[in-house]
Amino acid sequence: MRERDTIAILDYGSQTAQLIARRVRELHVYCELVPWDAPAERYAQLDPKGYILSGGPASVYDDSAPDLPPHVLASGRPVLGICYGMQLLAHHLGGRVEPAVREYGHAELSISEPQAPLLAGMPPQMHVWMSHGDHVAELPPGFVPLARSGPTTAAMGDLARQLYGVQFHPEVRHTPQGRELLRNFVLGICGCQADWTPARFIEDTVGDLQACIGDGLVICGLSGGVDSAVAATLLHRAVGERLTSIFVDHGLLREGEAAQVKETFGQRLGLRLIAVDAGAEFLADLAGIVDPEAKRRRIGARFIRTFEAAEAEAAAAMSGGAAGAHAAFLAQGTLYPDVIESASRHEQRAAHTIKTHHNVGGLPDEMHFQLVEPLRMLFKDEVRAVGEALGLAEEIVWRHPFPGPGLAIRIAGEVTPERLATVRHADYIFLQELRKAGLYRAVSQAFAVLLPVRSVGVMGDGRTYAEAIALRAVTTDDFMTADWARLPYDFLAGVSNRIVNEVPGINRVLYDMSSKPPATIEWE
Ligand code: XMP
Repeated sequence: MRERDTIAILDYGSQTAQLIARRVRELHVYCELVPWDAPAERYAQLDPKGYILSGGPASVYDDSAPDLPPHVLASGRPVLGICYGMQLLAHHLGGRVEPAVREYGHAELSISEPQAPLLAGMPPQMHVWMSHGDHVAELPPGFVPLARSGPTTAAMGDLARQLYGVQFHPEVRHTPQGRELLRNFVLGICGCQADWTPARFIEDTVGDLQACIGDGLVICGLSGGVDSAVAATLLHRAVGERLTSIFVDHGLLREGEAAQVKETFGQRLGLRLIAVDAGAEFLADLAGIVDPEAKRRRIGARFIRTFEAAEAEAAAAMSGGAAGAHAAFLAQGTLYPDVIESASRHEQRAAHTIKTHHNVGGLPDEMHFQLVEPLRMLFKDEVRAVGEALGLAEEIVWRHPFPGPGLAIRIAGEVTPERLATVRHADYIFLQELRKAGLYRAVSQAFAVLLPVRSVGVMGDGRTYAEAIALRAVTTDDFMTADWARLPYDFLAGVSNRIVNEVPGINRVLYDMSSKPPATIEWE
């Protein structure tokens, strides 16, 4: 891989550490979020042009307060400390940090040192977002105050050594000039080139994949979602015919999705594709099952069996019909947030289980593949940008996430062919209307849920006694928390009307106004 300018972000446990990384990437500069106490060699490999110290929940006076590793200042490279990061810099360099009145929310900032490169182009007064307990009461030698918020030093800098601290959070959207400030640091002070682009990523990744895979055989599971679509397309560029993609159609997909996967990958992009139509088997497994976890287990088990059979077929075909052949590599669409989260789980050695149900559609470890994860350093928005640069259809690139167990967990109660057709039809209408109204991209995820409740209605002159559809639409950055989308009433009225008129067996439509927590995004 060619050299590229990198920023290292030391993770001190802030809720917004990932956001710092996303903001730096949005400036087209590569960065990595690294646990603050990772070995110095890890940082040396990155050879960062600058460091950002994230915020964190600790106080520098706590017994086990996370520290500033010596290699950071020894490198002589620029440093920007944010919140706890600023306090740590101050504490370490001979300043004084004190408990303060806890400040949380908007604050008004006045700039006292407009010449400082960190604040170039900023207005003399600006809104920022604060969230801190301690503050820097006395600056370390060599530092000057750059901005104040009431009595608090909100920004400080040692301009000669290029060391900076800000008490507020430039990475959150509530700090409107935050992006400019990070740009000043990353591009101006650190002198990084803004050349981390989708085209550059594709070029580097295709080369890396070729080097890593050599003349091995690769299997990639396609789900219909953007991540696996982008991973498969990159691999196809890298190894061509030595990749076989497997698409297990479990019959629980949204309207038109299975056909689109086959058309895009099998025909238009010309990938070697094994599409297994296993809907009947999955439905048979689900007969009579109403418990959500039981549904997931049955779907997961059937998925693995189906995938294994397809893999054996794929490997035999790629090795010219050799029986017992296996591919050495399995491609997965793992993204950077999963990598960061599993690293921090490892770090904390916490027995804290991830929602195991989210692994439905995953494969067991004993399959003994070597994993290739071409997207493991990307955030979702970067995957989408790469998908666009690869020429994938907008419908695939911008598709909302969809759970592995599919529509089965959007049918409360038993999954039958009729109920599946009902929820799929209602979902299709909802998504079609969202697209027509230009709202599809404004929400993070939207879908219909079929409820096992019957209620009385009147249609024409007749009484109905039929089931209900709940509509769910959420906005979220990370799917860990989410808010229900404030869709316009008139829009919802139109969708409700269409569903009741066009979907047989439905006489009532509800809108789900629950956030996560306490609800989850899916109903099951
Ligand atoms: P919840 O319902 O837990 O969902 O708020 C958060 C996000 O994860 C998706 N989801 C799943 N994805 N397999 C998946 O691949 C699953 O079993 C699964 N369950 C939930 C959900 O659609 C949302 O985007």
